[in-house]
Amino acid sequence: MKSYNIAAYISGSGSNLKSIIDSSLNGNISSKVRLVIANRDVSGLDYPRSLGIDTAVISRDNLSRDEFLDAQLDLLNRHKINLIILAGYLKKLPPEIVRKFNNRILNIHPALLPKFGGKGMHGMNVHRAVIESGEIFSGPTVHFVDEIYDNGRILLQQKIEIGPDETPENLQKRVLEIEHRIYSEAIKILEDREE
Ligand code: GRF
Repeated sequence: MKSYNIAAYISGSGSNLKSIIDSSLNGNISSKVRLVIANRDVSGLDYPRSLGIDTAVISRDNLSRDEFLDAQLDLLNRHKINLIILAGYLKKLPPEIVRKFNNRILNIHPALLPKFGGKGMHGMNVHRAVIESGEIFSGPTVHFVDEIYDNGRILLQQKIEIGPDETPENLQKRVLEIEHRIYSEAIKILEDREE
């Protein structure tokens, strides 16, 4: 079984990140979150900080393209990162990182890709679009990241039925609960995979 040194990228409250850190603390996955990178000082950094996990805020503002890339590469190398997880990260990774970590970057999306993905499809926009389109099912998707938003190979999905009076807010809540379980499951699949 493999054990990865994980870097998590976040832009928000980091509840998915927390679920993965907790899975690691509970021994449900053997990989460890070694580094958390955010694009601004968001509340999701509090939990890893409280556990002494290294965190960094790296924003494109005030940095050249190369400085932005080098700041990330330096941290990823220093922590010997071999798996990146995007957990509510709203920016695009530099293509150099996507290429260097080919098949080693995961993202979680709150709908059943390939539907309801792409630019602008994040947060409540996704759940509103799902309900407005009259879908019967929704649910989160964990997929590999390539250079196009929400496009990479799908690793894991879980379907739930949408109720007749379902609101976007309620759907978000139900999907998020499942996200907290399947993101760790997806990491476990990679740990157990023969290569
Ligand atoms: C989740 O809904 C995830 O699917 C999406 O962004 C949200 C992040 O939530 N990519 P959190 O910051 O993990 O609470």
